[in-house]
Amino acid sequence: MKTRRDTLRAEIHELKAQHNALILAHYYEDGEIQDIADFVGDSLALAQWGERAPNPVILLAGVIFMAESAKILSPTKTVLMPDMNAGCSLVDHSPIDKYNAWKAQHPGAVMVTYVNSSAAVKAITDVTCTSSNAEKIIRAIPEDREILFGPDYNLGRYLMKKTGRKMLLWPGACEVHVLFSARRLFELKSSNPDAPVLAHPECPEAVLQYADVIGSTSRLLEEVQTNTKAKRFIVATEPGIFHQMQKARPEVELIQAPAEGSCACNECPYMKLNTLEKIATSLRTLTTQVQVPLDIIEKARVPLRRMLQLSVGQKVEW
Ligand code: 13P
Ligand code: SF4
Repeated sequence: MKTRRDTLRAEIHELKAQHNALILAHYYEDGEIQDIADFVGDSLALAQWGERAPNPVILLAGVIFMAESAKILSPTKTVLMPDMNAGCSLVDHSPIDKYNAWKAQHPGAVMVTYVNSSAAVKAITDVTCTSSNAEKIIRAIPEDREILFGPDYNLGRYLMKKTGRKMLLWPGACEVHVLFSARRLFELKSSNPDAPVLAHPECPEAVLQYADVIGSTSRLLEEVQTNTKAKRFIVATEPGIFHQMQKARPEVELIQAPAEGSCACNECPYMKLNTLEKIATSLRTLTTQVQVPLDIIEKARVPLRRMLQLSVGQKVEW
């Protein structure tokens, strides 16, 4: 028998065909959203898909900065967000006036900005990065240049350690990843020594010290897919990623890394604002469109394109 969810999914498919729309979803979305998407990926892959796709309409089931990147890379496309309140604490922690003042204090430095930032911040940036290409991008910057890295402090500190490159770091954080508890993770790892710990680099250093694999959402998924010796994994990132991990290896046990206290606060409240109902409404009305001012689009496209070029091994001018 057809359920209400089935009817909703059928409507979304119809609306998609009617507008020739493409649905892109981030790994942190609910499983039922990932399952109706044309493509599910990390923030780098979503930016690459958004740019390549021939569709005139893109619905981005993720957070606003991801939809803004799609709009900046393809300004003629209609880019829809199911919920316009889907922000990100890293965007909130890097207001443009303060970020710009920081840049002004360091003339001649290369500003590297994580894509988890506003379009205005990208517009004053030399090159953007995601967690999956950040190391490559830092290594491509000439040795004699000072580097400003923001807005994620934990990712920046991890990259300094990994590359040996000194950088000045902006004090922003992901409100979800900072809540993992190093103390409780240590206890969990001690009682489950057979389970590798997989962690996103937005986690604090105290948590990352217990990680066996540190990487972007796609890297952590790849580890579950390829490390066939392991039958259990401890995962220190947003649990939306479990959906694809479990699809790839239904037989493995995935253990959520714990937060301090008893809160279940490792779900991203912004990613979880999106629902199938909101996706259907957005496609039906085409009203929840992401808008970026034209002058910001022109400027922000430069660091995003530089990032995409460096990601595929092309050289760029600094
Ligand atoms: P990824 O780039 O690994 O997809 O991460 C995006 C994000 O928002 C992590 O919190
Ligand atoms: Fe932002 Fe953190 Fe949510 Fe990612 S998980 S979108 S960094 S608040």
